[in-house]
Amino acid sequence: MRTETATIVRPARDVRGSVSLPGDKSISHRYAMLAGIAEGPSRLENYSTGADCASTLECMRSLGVEWQRKDNVIEVQGRGLVLGAPARPLDCGNSGSTMRMLSGIVAGQKFISEMVGDESLSRRPMERVIKPLTAMGAQIESQGGKPPLRITGAGLKAIDYKMPVASAQVKTCLLFAGLLAEGETRVEEPLRTRDHGEVALRAFGAQLQRQGNQVRIRGGQRLRGMAARIPGDLSSAAFFLCAAAMFPGSQLTLPNLLMNPTRARLLDVLMQMGLHISVVQLEEIHGEMVGSLQVEGAKLKGVTIAGADSAALIDEIPVLAAIAPYTEQGIEVRDARELRVKESDRIAAVATNLRRMGAQVEEREDGLKIPGGQALRGAELDSFGDHRIAMAFAVAALRARGETLIRGAESAAISYPAFFETLEELVKA
Ligand code: S3P
Repeated sequence: MRTETATIVRPARDVRGSVSLPGDKSISHRYAMLAGIAEGPSRLENYSTGADCASTLECMRSLGVEWQRKDNVIEVQGRGLVLGAPARPLDCGNSGSTMRMLSGIVAGQKFISEMVGDESLSRRPMERVIKPLTAMGAQIESQGGKPPLRITGAGLKAIDYKMPVASAQVKTCLLFAGLLAEGETRVEEPLRTRDHGEVALRAFGAQLQRQGNQVRIRGGQRLRGMAARIPGDLSSAAFFLCAAAMFPGSQLTLPNLLMNPTRARLLDVLMQMGLHISVVQLEEIHGEMVGSLQVEGAKLKGVTIAGADSAALIDEIPVLAAIAPYTEQGIEVRDARELRVKESDRIAAVATNLRRMGAQVEEREDGLKIPGGQALRGAELDSFGDHRIAMAFAVAALRARGETLIRGAESAAISYPAFFETLEELVKA
C-alpha cells in the first residue's frame, strides 16, 4: 500500500542557488538495460535516484543480471544478449519506460515473461509495442492492449516499421528488439523524438544508421560494457528553471546537465519567454551533450506550444502550464493528446489544479489555453499519483497568495526523491 503524504508549499520571493541534478531518467533506464545485455562489466555513475529507474534495475535482476548499487553508482555484470528466465513477474511499478523498452528485450528471449505494473501503469496503452513486436514473431497477451503483458519470446525477425505514434519509448523498444532479431530492422518515426536509445546503443558498441526519420539496426551485434557518468536530468531541472523564471532577479546554477538537442527544446522556449540562460561549459560524453547553465529570471512572456514542439516538450508541458497564469500573455498548448495517457491524464490534472487555485483555464482534447496576468491563491491540490504533477504545482504554489497543500506529494519520488528538500533550499521566503 502506498501511503499518501501531503506537503505544504509556501509563497516565495526569490529562487537562488546551485543544484546538481540526479542522473537523467531516460538515459538511466537505457544504460541499465544495455549494460545487462552487454558483455563485461559496466559502471554507471550518477544513476537516477527515482523509483522508476530502480524498477528497471530490479527487472534486470529478475532476468539474471547481477548488479550492485553504492549510492548512485551501479556496477553491472553484463550477461550478453541471452538473459535468464524470470522466476516471478517483472514488476515495472509506475514505469511505462521500463515496460515498453524492456518488452523489446524480453521479446527476443526464449522464455516467457510476465510484465506487471501499478494501478496507473495498468491503465496505459501497450498496443504500440504489442503490434510491432508481434509482427517480429513474439506472442503477447494483454488486457485489451493494457498491462499485465505475458510475452512469449522467440527468435525475432527484423521488421520495417512506420510508427503511428511519436514515442521514443516505442522506438527504443524496437531498436532493442532489432538488436536481437535476424536481419536489419528499420524504424521510422513520424517526427524526431529523443534519441537516447540510438546514442546509448552506439555508446555500448552497436552500429546504427539514421536517414531522416528512419533508424536502422542490424541484429546480432554484440555490446560491450562501459564506464559512464549520467548527465543531470533536464526534465527534473525543468521545475527549478520554471521556478526561477517566475521571479525576476532569481539566479540559478545548474552544473552537468543533459543538453541533448532532442531534449533541450525547453531551454529555447524559456529563453523565448524571457529567461536569461547562458551555457558556461559544454562537452560530449558517450554521445550525449552535457553543459553547465547559469540562469537569471526576468519578466515572463507567454508562448504557444504546438506540433513537433509538443512532442519535444511532452514531459515539461505540465510545469510550463502550471506557471502559465503568471506569464504576461498566457500559454496555449496544442497537439499534446499524448498527455492524456501519461502517469495521469495530465491535461485534466493541470486544469483541475489550476482551477482550484482560482485560475481561468480552457481545457481542450489535445491541450490547454491558459490566459496570462492571473493572480493565483494557495489551495488544496492533488498530485493524481503523478510525479510531474506534484512537482509542477509545488512550483506554481511559490507565487500564489497563501499556502498550498499538495496531496500525494510523495509521488515526486518516482523521478526525483529529493525534489522537495532541494526546492526548499533554493527558495528564499
Ligand atoms: C521517454 C519518452 C516519453 C516521455 C517519458 C520518457 C523515454 O514517452 O514522456 O517520460 O525515455 O523514451 P513516450 O515515448 O511515450 O512519448
